[in-house]
Amino acid sequence: MSALANPAPVLEKPIDDAIRRADDVILQQRNISADEKAELTTRIKQLLKQRNAVLVAHYYTSADLQILADETGGFVSDSLDMARFGTEHPAQTLVVAGVRFMGETAKILNPEKRIFMPDLNAECSLDIGCPADEFNAFCDQHPDRTVVVYANTSAEVKARADWVVTSGIALKVIQHLKDQGKKIIWAPDKHLGNYVQQQTGADMLLWQGSCVIHDAFKASALKKLMQQHPDAAVLVHPESPEDVIALADVVGSTTGLIKAVATMPNQTFIVATDNGIFHKMKLAAPDKTLLEAPNEGVGATCISCAHCPWMEMNGLKNLAQALENETNEILIEENIRKKAYIPIKRLMDFAATQT
Ligand code: 13P
Repeated sequence: MSALANPAPVLEKPIDDAIRRADDVILQQRNISADEKAELTTRIKQLLKQRNAVLVAHYYTSADLQILADETGGFVSDSLDMARFGTEHPAQTLVVAGVRFMGETAKILNPEKRIFMPDLNAECSLDIGCPADEFNAFCDQHPDRTVVVYANTSAEVKARADWVVTSGIALKVIQHLKDQGKKIIWAPDKHLGNYVQQQTGADMLLWQGSCVIHDAFKASALKKLMQQHPDAAVLVHPESPEDVIALADVVGSTTGLIKAVATMPNQTFIVATDNGIFHKMKLAAPDKTLLEAPNEGVGATCISCAHCPWMEMNGLKNLAQALENETNEILIEENIRKKAYIPIKRLMDFAATQT
């Protein structure tokens, strides 16, 4: 059984404003010559050494940053493994290229480390769509329910949670809670929540947030593309709408989708997630054909064009500046951090028991 959170958050304006702010930064970051790019790359490598820092990047960031992370002993991954790597690596300084909740998760787990990001305004529409005060009021109305929040939330929202999950482990955690007879509040992603609810049959009350990128994938256009490529496997991130997930051969986290490209026998893949992932997919399977799943983006109506504007804010220029000047540090009020640590640590401990 599932039910809808009521009232549903309607936060289009803050999300639109954040996208506009991202656009300005993206233009500055992209305006860069080949020489400047080479100089910045060299400088960042020096600075990472000088500061004893390691670069941790998400699969949705630009290929430039992913290559830099790989070349410098850093790490490129999904949100769960980014958290794991940041905790296990001995470096006392982490530079997190991704969106802000990823930097915050690193700080919550590692208060003794310094965490920098290229731009602290790298938002996430799921995070924006779940303000802590409204979420707390909602939880207060349902004190009998276990509170499970997706990693794509603020530290304040995590501080209210019993569990934090990522897409890579959400099914296992919810199944575990269902087996204990728990009723659940799930926030913020309605599509992932709905998918997990259907797979597990758990009793979940869903917050009505969504990711602007995944929410825009369209089942009708995807069906047409599938007809043109009948042998293609369809890979879908579970933040996508239910009718898109229904067409998938594989539903999985970013890591899961890259593994599928590498291991499935198909020659062609239609991919419904942020197209930043294509960099690693091409490395994993250089001879395979990768097609973007269609979204509502046609010309001017394209909100995301299958790429997160906030991920794209991470560039070489602002990464070099953050390292050079030690700016854009993630700082979290200790009282909030301590509370948010509990559900994230619970996730990490649970993940360690899973194969
Ligand atoms: P993953 O944990 O699958 O990398 O997803 C993170 C994310 O933010 C997807 O939009």
